[in-house]
Amino acid sequence: MMVNEPSAVQPSATPDDPARVAEFEARIARGESIEPKDWMPERYRKQLTRMMSQHAHSEIVGMLPEGNWITRAPNLRRKMALIAKVQDEAGHGLYIYCGTETLGTDRQELVQQLLDGKAKYSSIFNYPTLTWADIGCIGWFVDGAAIVNQTMLAKASYGPYARAMVRICKEENFHKRQGYEIMATLANGTPEQRAMAQDAVNRWWWPSLMMFGPHDAESSNSEELVRWGVKKKGNDELRQRFVNLTVAQATAINLTLPDPALQYNEQTENWDFGPIDWDEFWRVVKGDGPCNRERLAARRDAHAAGEWVRVAAAAYAAKQQRSATEAA
Ligand code: 3HC
Repeated sequence: MMVNEPSAVQPSATPDDPARVAEFEARIARGESIEPKDWMPERYRKQLTRMMSQHAHSEIVGMLPEGNWITRAPNLRRKMALIAKVQDEAGHGLYIYCGTETLGTDRQELVQQLLDGKAKYSSIFNYPTLTWADIGCIGWFVDGAAIVNQTMLAKASYGPYARAMVRICKEENFHKRQGYEIMATLANGTPEQRAMAQDAVNRWWWPSLMMFGPHDAESSNSEELVRWGVKKKGNDELRQRFVNLTVAQATAINLTLPDPALQYNEQTENWDFGPIDWDEFWRVVKGDGPCNRERLAARRDAHAAGEWVRVAAAAYAAKQQRSATEAA
């Protein structure tokens, strides 16, 4: 299933009043929070809706690779932690869909775009979880990268999104810690467990670096998102921060990051790293990754299986509405 071409935000039909845009940008420059009822340029609204819908879809699709391992967790403690994490991700998705609704887009419309294969979600979730160590690596790398990105978004200019990030980041920290503990346990376990952990690191490292998006110079959205205070830092700066944090963590548990070019740079005080395979990135983003079809099929099946819940909830809401009207 080919995902549509980049859904770069289309120019508004009617240009916004330049004076209002200037006042809006002055508010951003003063560090003010933009709230749902405030005036905003149509492009700002569309950019936020684009970004937040993809974020929400990522949270929901991200449940699938991990959900596969709930019944196969090695013990009750790991099973409980994984159930809690997957439930958290569902809540994150619903929370962010609520955020898109404050911008005037109904979540059913966004969910239908996902089900129709027309919506993006983070490419990282199109990779398979082959062993239990993958669950540890997802917590360590994927939630770790999400924390770096979302800690920045917690200062975004759009109030509902920033506030959602504050709450979500608290739970992401638990996600990362439980993942890193799994990896530390395996790395200090039997030779087979250690090999399983290293294999997972080898497979998940580069796709995790891709989570931060293309280089800023190739980003079709960064310039506008930075100008409007949505992104306080560019993709490359956040990626570099993640690499710097993770190198020390890998060293601490004697696991090797699969990048022979990884080298500490005394001048910049950063870890220089090798080139990212952007052909792989775009191949997966455009629908031709290892699990894209499987993920969409699972999402469609889950949506169909949940139809009765939506019908029952709507019937109950209508009954409550009728009772309220009769009582008035
Ligand atoms: N996967 C899929 N598509 C991606 C991508 C990725 N990792 N990175 C970038 N893209 C897409 C963008 O959507 C854009 O396409 P579009 O214009 O059609 O939407 C195109 O590639 C160019 O990228 P840009 O850098 O211009 O796009 P952005 O400025 O939107 O930056 C982003 C990309 C950094 C992912 C930004 O959208 C963002 O910060 N989003 C919010 C956070 C988020 O969505 N995180 C996803 C993971 S959620 C998660 O990990 C859950 C946790 O609980 C595990």
